[in-house]
Amino acid sequence: MLEGKKLLLVISGGIAAYKCLELIRRLRERGADVRCVLTGAGERFVTPLSVATVTGQRVFRDLFSPTDENEIGHIELAREADLVLVAPATANILAKMTAGIADDLATAVLLATDKPVMAAPAMNGRMWEHPATRANVARLAERGVQFVGPEEGEMAEAGEWGPGRMTEPADILTAVETFFAGAGRLQGRRAIVTSGPTYEAIDPVRYIANRSSGKQGHAIAGALARLGAETTLVSGPTRLPDPLGVRVINVEAARDMLAACKGALPADVAVLVAAVADWRVAEPAKRKIKKDSTKGAPVLKLVENPDILAKLSADNAGRPALVVGFAAETGSVVEKAKRKRLTKGCDWIVANDVASGTFGAESNTVHLVTAEGVEDWPPMAKSTVAQRLADRIADALEGVPARPTP
Ligand SMILES: Cc1cc2nc3c(=O)[nH]c(=O)nc-3n(C[C@H](O)[C@H](O)[C@H](O)COP(=O)(O)O)c2cc1C
Repeated sequence: MLEGKKLLLVISGGIAAYKCLELIRRLRERGADVRCVLTGAGERFVTPLSVATVTGQRVFRDLFSPTDENEIGHIELAREADLVLVAPATANILAKMTAGIADDLATAVLLATDKPVMAAPAMNGRMWEHPATRANVARLAERGVQFVGPEEGEMAEAGEWGPGRMTEPADILTAVETFFAGAGRLQGRRAIVTSGPTYEAIDPVRYIANRSSGKQGHAIAGALARLGAETTLVSGPTRLPDPLGVRVINVEAARDMLAACKGALPADVAVLVAAVADWRVAEPAKRKIKKDSTKGAPVLKLVENPDILAKLSADNAGRPALVVGFAAETGSVVEKAKRKRLTKGCDWIVANDVASGTFGAESNTVHLVTAEGVEDWPPMAKSTVAQRLADRIADALEGVPARPTP
């Protein structure tokens, strides 16, 4: 049920806009309060009168309308909803959301909102598969926008078939209900997530690093925050935007990452996704090491870095109730993960085979190794892995007393 939930539905200008009337009807049947913003192109496909009739409320269309702005300003409109749903989401509106363009009421609201955003894309298959749209969707997902669909099917253009069809209203309704069922499950909980690689200095300009992009760790931090956890993300250097609603501490080296994690305690759960360098240079040079052919290549002496997973798992008063490690392995992944779980003293290991190009990719195939056994998850988007793991964490913490906040 959606009793008492406030939804702001942004209807942009796609042929699927007519399906919104059915979506609104279904949302209202479940008790949701639905307000609508129509884009200029949206009005070409569905009339404001129809939308006003099915919502039982006036429709918002004009950023510069003095009467609208007096009655409820665009900032208030953006903030008073529990969820902002963009359906259909055109290629155009997704591009504007990515770039932060706010040149009409719909996009101004989307830029001003501090509430969760869900989007149901709908467009021609070629538009959906265009690298610009792919990049926009990836960027928005990294920022925490949840996507529903699109589906594969017949396009509006006669005889065309492909991805880009808007998900049916009944399934969008399920996604909205699932969202509200999950929201708040981790309210009052504190989470620490690490993400990305670490940089270990060789000299002031060079460093040792690895190929971790941070996509999986950032997605997990966003998913935990969406379930209501007060989430701290300790991130090594990445090119990713900060996930919505997450406190981010940027670090470079493993020792800084450990210190930041310790500083973020107490926590109910720690998910250590970062690919922390096992070794660092014993004594990084204070000045740039100059190339000198007569002396040959420098020899680097490496020393072991602190083991963040083992340290946070150590059985002392500050241990989070649930410690989850990640294992990026090449070959015998599950066996190595089982061993790692025992040697590190953590509760779960999420293992993935990185031999097949997981680093930097959008999808991941993982195995969840717990004391109870091994679950093989099918290949899925990193954002879906994150959502599923966050749900499992919420299940595991049920009934466990929350750590007191410092
Ligand atoms: C008949 C017709 C159908 C369209 N259908 C779609 C669509 O399904 N998806 C889409 O992204 N754009 C579609 N467009 C293009 C958008 O309407 C156009 O990009 C517009 O600028 C979107 O504005 P908005 O995002 O502000 O609503 C269609 C255009 C026409 C003329």
